[in-house]
Amino acid sequence: MQAVKIGLMGLGTVGGGTATVLIRNCEEIARRVGRKLEVVHAAARDIADQTILDGSKVKLSEDAASVVNDPDVDIVVELIGGYSPAKELVLQAIENGKHVVTANKALIAMHGTEIFKAAEAKGVIVAYEAAVAGGIPIIKAIREGLAGNKIEWLAGIINGTGNFILTEMRDKGRDFDDVLKEAQALGYAEADPTFDVEGIDAAHKLTILASLSFGIPLQFDKTFTEGISKITREDVNFAEELGYRIKHLGIARKTDKGIEMRVHPTLIPEKRLIANVDGVMNAVLVKADAVGSTLYYGAGAGAEPTASAVVADLVDVARAMDSDVNDRVAMLGFQPASLQDTAVVSADDFETSYYVRMLADDRPGVLADVTRIFADNDISIEAVIQKEPDEGQTRACLIMMTSLIVEKNMSKALSKIEALDSIEGDVVKIRLEHLS
Ligand code: HSE
Repeated sequence: MQAVKIGLMGLGTVGGGTATVLIRNCEEIARRVGRKLEVVHAAARDIADQTILDGSKVKLSEDAASVVNDPDVDIVVELIGGYSPAKELVLQAIENGKHVVTANKALIAMHGTEIFKAAEAKGVIVAYEAAVAGGIPIIKAIREGLAGNKIEWLAGIINGTGNFILTEMRDKGRDFDDVLKEAQALGYAEADPTFDVEGIDAAHKLTILASLSFGIPLQFDKTFTEGISKITREDVNFAEELGYRIKHLGIARKTDKGIEMRVHPTLIPEKRLIANVDGVMNAVLVKADAVGSTLYYGAGAGAEPTASAVVADLVDVARAMDSDVNDRVAMLGFQPASLQDTAVVSADDFETSYYVRMLADDRPGVLADVTRIFADNDISIEAVIQKEPDEGQTRACLIMMTSLIVEKNMSKALSKIEALDSIEGDVVKIRLEHLS
């Protein structure tokens, strides 16, 4: 049988890894698919910089459009990243009747609706397993493995760079910037690393996971996003003392009010398996009605782990490309006509617990004032710790943990607490989830 012909756009960390895995494992892959997967054309910005494809018969080019317009190419692999020109190239590939495999979470989260529509009209497949959690086959797990379930919620560590930074800060007391530089050198960080530390990368991925889980349209603009840039070593240490770890989580949950989609630093009990996912590793915990809780763990970034997902998509596309379009797995798991416009819950109505830390005058009545404000706003306190003032200081550190509350109540309470003369500066607040 004729080989399936692949065009690669991008030969950076993931593109290089993909070419390497396709070459190294070509026999094993052909045994699975029943035909060879052969790279016939590759484009990169500086083609002279790549060495992986030297000596091969692969056409090399510095113009990605030449891959998209190459009549020999059956499947275009987009590993350029970012919104543009990736979007235009992918739409042109679809227009040319080619299947597409992409690792681009920003592209799918922002423009997935338009891209899937164009692909459906042309009868081609767009596959994007590598867009979420690197090498973990989480899209396949949710879309196919859990297809018999109603998904209730999921919580994931879905940005390797952020997890690497939090882990190194906790374990080695390293500086934020120093760890970030290492993540960039190792090829984990986004081209714009603010995407990692401000939570945007995780929000792209969470948007995709929420659509796959609940059969809703992709709505990146409605995903609440908060990064890790304001997390201090002090809070990491206090959390540890209280039996919690601070992780940057993406959470999607179906509630009576609609779907919560949120990405933010979160305290989680240290005894949860997911609390012990460290370094660049990712994990996604999914709670579904029939199966209960399942946990998916693995490398969330890096050349070959991400290539593993790209190549798995190539295998899937090669297996399905000659099938009737109606026999294929829907790109978001739910039939396009069955996507539901379920309400997305606004941040004010999120239900979560909280860790708060404040600097307070060390005198009678201060704690009573604070707890009164919490009580007036329907906030129940589960634990209080007071750290004595440091030598020569008059302010004590007050740490409190709340039970489950509605977020707008916390905002009201904190603005009143911050206005008290006895409280210095802003109150630090970090959401807390028990994930039980
Ligand atoms: N910058 C991403 C991360 C790469 O650190 O997880 C994988 O999407």
